[in-house]
Amino acid sequence: MSDKLFIFDTTLRDGEQVPGCQLNTIEKIEVAKTLEALGVDVIEAGFPVSSPGDFQSVVEIAKAVSNPTICALTRAVEKDIDVAAEALKFAKRGRIHTGIGTSPYHIKSKLNSNPDEILERAVRAVKYAKRYVEDVEFYAEDAGRSDNEYLARVVEAVIAAGATVINIPDTTGYCLPAEYGAKIKYLMENVSNVHKAILSTHCHNDLGMATANSLSGVINGARQVEVTINGIGERAGNTSLEEVVMAVKTHHDLPLHTDINTKEIYGASRLVSSLMNMPVQANKAIVGRNAFAHSSGIHQDGVLKNRENYEIIDPVEVGIQESAIVLTARSGRAALNHHLEQMGYNLTKEELDEAYSNFLVMADQRKNLSEKDLAELMGEKENLDKTVELELLQVVSGKSTIPMATVHLKIKGESCAATAEGNGPIDACFNAVKKLIKQKFTLGEFLVQALTRGSDDLGKVHVQLEHNGKVVYGFGANVDIITASVEALVDALSKVVY
Ligand code: KIV
Ligand code: ZN
Repeated sequence: MSDKLFIFDTTLRDGEQVPGCQLNTIEKIEVAKTLEALGVDVIEAGFPVSSPGDFQSVVEIAKAVSNPTICALTRAVEKDIDVAAEALKFAKRGRIHTGIGTSPYHIKSKLNSNPDEILERAVRAVKYAKRYVEDVEFYAEDAGRSDNEYLARVVEAVIAAGATVINIPDTTGYCLPAEYGAKIKYLMENVSNVHKAILSTHCHNDLGMATANSLSGVINGARQVEVTINGIGERAGNTSLEEVVMAVKTHHDLPLHTDINTKEIYGASRLVSSLMNMPVQANKAIVGRNAFAHSSGIHQDGVLKNRENYEIIDPVEVGIQESAIVLTARSGRAALNHHLEQMGYNLTKEELDEAYSNFLVMADQRKNLSEKDLAELMGEKENLDKTVELELLQVVSGKSTIPMATVHLKIKGESCAATAEGNGPIDACFNAVKKLIKQKFTLGEFLVQALTRGSDDLGKVHVQLEHNGKVVYGFGANVDIITASVEALVDALSKVVY
């Protein structure tokens, strides 16, 4: 039987510390419920002593969520521990996560102390937390740069004091995978009471090694990983939940399993990205827009013959409907034929050859080709014009005003107009557009990016829509981000309205 790898999610604590990612309590509860549905074992809900808002969020999350253990962070300070225990009072299973720095940097220049005193403070904090809860996790901050022999002494002492989980953070993301793995191995072999606790990894991504380091720790004996959705976190971020979980699931040679319902991964990724205003990079492993998109002819041909030729994960396993065969000037005949067949065309070899040479000319001019472009390629004259165009946009928004938008569109040559309210100006615009479009669509992704950092910057908007099981994209760029957003929506709609 394989060992269980416990998933400790710190999106709401380490992830939420990132500037611009702060959530209100309602949003945190939504994320916590999503994490529960995902099947995480532990939710680190916050650092209660840090602010009244954080305290209240831990209280409310503990009330709202029942399956995962709810964990609260503290320093090795009695006041912190008292406040954390109070915040956890409604938790079915509560855990206090306390700790202190163990690297020479932290001991000397942060804490102005010495190794023996730090060890004593660590033991005292664990014993103090044990008065409130059975489940106490200890973190040795900056363990990545701590001396292994000293770290082993601290770990042995806090386990003897009652710690049930020992977190070995690579706080600064300094370690290389072999080095971090060797640290865990050293502790497994040199801490006499290590079998009484679980070792946990907590790796930051400053050198892009967080996932590799976490897995190296796991291979060497750690049985809990501390992770965040989309790898969000301080600086370059934390270890990504989705990467570790899918590495374990994909590598049957690792004698491990998790209880994560992987089909919920993509939804959780989108929710966190939109609530925390943190776009997911297109080439992000597992959840990036291009993670299952194939654009070169050789790969497309291979995937169409057998998905596994170029994919190690079935996208359905992570909640993505299907792999995307993107049509660009790099695509081959197989990809073109695949799309045309889906649209109902059955071409002979000669017809396909001709369509393909026309396609290459069109693809050079237009970059990514949509179904509408293909219809045009196949001579469907009525599709030559843009089917949806933005003619006029008028928006009312501001403080103490109900956002309202009036949109005039030209749909297949016919002008029409609608007005709607919304949660904000962009929502109002989208609601007005929805009133005018007959086709049912759902907004999959909405991303606004500034190209430079000035207030006169161009806003670039990327929209993903789903219509009848098909995914289409639209882009807009404008100094006015509301206009850019509507242009992106209209661009995407043009690909489904024809
Ligand atoms: O990175 C770190 O060391 C931490 C601890 C507070 C657990 O986040
Ligand atoms: Zn951290």
